[in-house]
Amino acid sequence: MSENLFKKIQSSPIPRHLAVIMDGNGRWAKKKGLPRLEGHRKGAEIVQNLLDTSLKLKIKYISLYAFSTENWKRPKLEIKGLFEILNDFIALRLSEMHEKGVRILISGDISKLPQKSQNLLKDAISLTRKNKKITVNFCLNYGGRAEIHRAAENLLKAFLEEKFNQNKKIKITEKIFQKYLYTAQLPDIDLMIRTAGEKRISNFLLYQSAYAEFYFTEKTWPEFNESEFLKSIIDFQHRVRKYGGL
Ligand code: FPP
Repeated sequence: MSENLFKKIQSSPIPRHLAVIMDGNGRWAKKKGLPRLEGHRKGAEIVQNLLDTSLKLKIKYISLYAFSTENWKRPKLEIKGLFEILNDFIALRLSEMHEKGVRILISGDISKLPQKSQNLLKDAISLTRKNKKITVNFCLNYGGRAEIHRAAENLLKAFLEEKFNQNKKIKITEKIFQKYLYTAQLPDIDLMIRTAGEKRISNFLLYQSAYAEFYFTEKTWPEFNESEFLKSIIDFQHRVRKYGGL
């Protein structure tokens, strides 16, 4: 099935930066009569498949909404389980990702994460920092508004610490502002996928998705297999992107 879909994919345009809101893990688990955490565990397997297919497609950047600033409202046990799944994902798959040329980045304030997750993530960033095949940006304790607010605050701090030439008239261009976002090293988003039938952006990469194409599917994240992913890419290849022009 996915071989046939691969044949339908043209070499261009391939989204340079793909963002994914991985929704519906809980619903998938409920449908199967399983605990919610089983949905997240299956979700982590799907993340690995997504990375492997993205490497085949030569996608260069992926941002994954793994834990939002709002997710702290969930039951303590689910939060604990989610970070354990993330820890296992990094611990078990890091060396393989490194060999495949994956560079790991993080967006969000990870100082609030369990210490073990912070250590694993910092080591993963440092080990993979020179890799060039694909960059995977795990968004953790991430919120789009908080990110923009933090950027404005850090920009002001830099100004007050006289990091700008105070004699010149200061012009804060978009290029300068973007350097203060978590995603300073990443291009704008080309395609944003959200699973499980919801049609919202939910505070994800608000600044970076200004000209993104959106793809919504009824499939839950654990059901988002290679064929479903390829369908989203084929759909993207049929969009006409005008960026406000004619
Ligand atoms: C939304 O489903 C999903 C999350 C809040 C977490 C996403 C986490 C994973 C896919 C697993 C681990 C991630 C990595 C990067 C290894 P939901 O729980 O809101 O589903 P529901 O709306 O059906 O309840």
